[in-house]
Amino acid sequence: MLVHLSFFLSVCLWISLASGRTKNPKRGIGYAGDVPGDIINANQSNSLISWDYNWASIPPDYLATANISYIPMQWGSVGIDSFASDVQAQGATAFNEPDFIDESNMEPADAAKLWMQFLQPLKSQGIRLGGPAVTASSTGVPWLQAFFAACTNCTIDFLPLHWYGSGVDAFYNYIWSIHGQFPQYPIWITEYAETSANQSVVMDFMNQTTVYMDGLSWIERYAWFGYFVNMLTDDGALNALGQLYTGAKTVHTENVTSGPTATYNTVNGADNPTFAPASTFPAVFSSAVISRESPLSLVVLFVTVVLAPIVIGISGILYAA
Ligand SMILES: *[C@@H]1O[C@H](CO)[C@@H](O)[C@H](O)[C@H]1NC(C)=O
Ligand SMILES: *[C@@H]1O[C@H](CO)[C@@H](O)[C@H](O)[C@H]1NC(C)=O
Ligand SMILES: *[C@@H]1O[C@H](CO)[C@@H](O)[C@H](O)[C@H]1NC(C)=O
Ligand SMILES: *[C@@H]1O[C@H](CO)[C@@H](O)[C@H](O)[C@H]1NC(C)=O
Ligand SMILES: *[C@@H]1O[C@H](CO)[C@@H](O)[C@H](O)[C@H]1NC(C)=O
Ligand SMILES: *[C@@H]1O[C@H](CO)[C@@H](O)[C@H](O)[C@H]1NC(C)=O
Repeated sequence: MLVHLSFFLSVCLWISLASGRTKNPKRGIGYAGDVPGDIINANQSNSLISWDYNWASIPPDYLATANISYIPMQWGSVGIDSFASDVQAQGATAFNEPDFIDESNMEPADAAKLWMQFLQPLKSQGIRLGGPAVTASSTGVPWLQAFFAACTNCTIDFLPLHWYGSGVDAFYNYIWSIHGQFPQYPIWITEYAETSANQSVVMDFMNQTTVYMDGLSWIERYAWFGYFVNMLTDDGALNALGQLYTGAKTVHTENVTSGPTATYNTVNGADNPTFAPASTFPAVFSSAVISRESPLSLVVLFVTVVLAPIVIGISGILYAA
């Protein structure tokens, strides 16, 4: 399925979220769109979302100004020489799926050299460094082992993982297996999703796995993939999955198919701190939403929205297809 590897770095600098509702310190979103309707629902007072990232090293202004902690990433080698200055005021993550030919596709030894030159020095600035985020495919763990063998002086603070598949048992088996092999590292699940086309199954998977990971001490953070794809309806409202994940009801709608826009201040609704948090959830999904959530659509959307701009060297603002 989708396979992404990342070296994730993250700073210890956490924004204190002193809003009306306690945020979930583990729960984040991978944010590939540049559509204002999305961030307003995730950024509202009742939202549980505490962190976000967008596979880039500098946040677009709508993420920079959200009341959500932004984690920069050094996706591959392009622009790595300016990464340190990009992250100085914030946290960071680095290198996306170096073991995968369609992702950052790096040799472990090359990645290790870049790591020591550009990433390891960030430690002295108090930044926590996440290791390479390997895919859950068979190339993942061998790549990671080769990387650690080549990077004996690297000090990794946590290990990011990606997983796509079906069934809570398969997911739990994977994360426990990695934890068993690398017990010294806390884990961030920076991309994961249930790929079933049955939306009841997806909802149940999200419900079970978030509760499960909230209770696992060695899981520091997780981010469902992706907020922009399968937690929103076509008019930008939170669907059942989006309400479950953010713990909040829709306060803003805007067509998410209308393309990028420079400003996020166009509101059809706004933050409403007195709105009761979501506690009951709408029936699952229209057929239109199901088609947008198929694994194939996820892949196509991810490639067009995230990978293409990054591959051609654009970091920062990403555009919704
Ligand atoms: C987040 O919101 C709370 C109150 O809603 C505020 O106290 C805090 O300063 C905000 N943080 C940021 C980074 O905007
Ligand atoms: C996010 O919420 C904060 C208040 O907590 C607000 O100041 C900020 O403008 C919001 N940002 C966006 C992009 O909605
Ligand atoms: C690791 O650091 C030690 C001490 O600075 C050095 O002697 C050694 O060559 C380094 N190893 C690698 C693989 O860079
Ligand atoms: C979807 O999954 C639910 C729960 O497992 C099941 O009851 C339902 O029959 C499934 N729907 C389809 C169309 O397979
Ligand atoms: C989540 O699971 C709990 C039981 O573990 C159940 O009571 C609750 O209704 C579920 N929520 C949703 C939205 O499916
Ligand atoms: C979204 O677009 C549809 C038509 O494609 C329109 O009917 C609907 O009102 C729009 N919703 C919003 C919130 O603008």
